[in-house]
Amino acid sequence: MSYNIKPIPVVEAVDLCKQYGSVQALAGLNLKLMPGEIYGLLGPNGAGKSTLIKIIAGLVEPTSGSVRLLGFDHAIDPVLAKSKIGYVSENSMLYESLTPRDFFEFVASVRKISSEVVNERVARLAPAFGLEQYYDSPIGTLSMGTRQKIAIVAALLHEPSLLLLDEPLNGLDAKTSRIVKDLLSMHSRKNDSAVLFSTHIMEVAEHVCDRIGIIYKGKIVAEGSLEELRRKASEITVAVNGSAQSVDSSATLEEVFLKLTHEEDDIAGTVRALREAFYDNR
Ligand SMILES: Nc1ncnc2c1ncn2[C@@H]1O[C@H](COP(=O)(O)OP(=O)(O)OP(=O)(O)O)[C@@H](O)[C@H]1O
Ligand SMILES: [Mg+2]
Repeated sequence: MSYNIKPIPVVEAVDLCKQYGSVQALAGLNLKLMPGEIYGLLGPNGAGKSTLIKIIAGLVEPTSGSVRLLGFDHAIDPVLAKSKIGYVSENSMLYESLTPRDFFEFVASVRKISSEVVNERVARLAPAFGLEQYYDSPIGTLSMGTRQKIAIVAALLHEPSLLLLDEPLNGLDAKTSRIVKDLLSMHSRKNDSAVLFSTHIMEVAEHVCDRIGIIYKGKIVAEGSLEELRRKASEITVAVNGSAQSVDSSATLEEVFLKLTHEEDDIAGTVRALREAFYDNR
């Protein structure tokens, strides 16, 4: 007899809503990530990306809806949930007076990883980012990019089943961005982990992700590969224009994104207004 065992999703968010006073940050968002999958979240400023990531990380309570992590309810066992997650926030707050060496030791103790294991993992990860030279300098004295590298290494130390990164390439130079992109792929493959990250860099989403989700006004309005998103953007164009006009099969992710978030017209209007304000009215 053969058994068909379905893999358990690493994350399953159902009908997530988050209300901040009168602002609806999430408006019934659904998301499912499978083991080994890299999922990129793209969306305009204020679309709800960071809110979604913080809810999955267990740092913000949703107003309604649920998150399951590897099949168990996030809300019922938040400590277990956090032990499975690595998180790099939008503006990583690290302890400024600690050195990277102290900080990695601190993370290891919180994560209950032995010093041998953590030393071995740091020795494997840190050289890729050229961090050795900063081991004994207080974090407060380090550059923004170096802090970001430390935050990324720290999030990987316990080899999490789910890696959450909020705009991880912010402040990183071209070489480091490339290394991080490769690292995300290696991490998801090696540990069968899922990676969820937000970015405004289309090229990254296009080249690193298995799936891309476009988030707009607190909902995923489209998700899939670039090909699938192009198709979806075409359907919207047809629905709006009532014609058979379609999105070019060579359309870049940026063009597809602007179409799906209805921002194309906005941009044209804004540029027109700026031109009038800056040049025509002098
Ligand atoms: N702590 C908070 N209190 C009140 N409103 C908040 C809070 N956090 C987020 N919001 C609001 O919720 C909405 C979604 O914010 P969020 O930070 O999730 O967007 P984002 O997609 O990450 O944007 P960005 O691309 O600028 O990082 C915004 O309107 C924001 O002002
Ligand atoms: Mg954000």
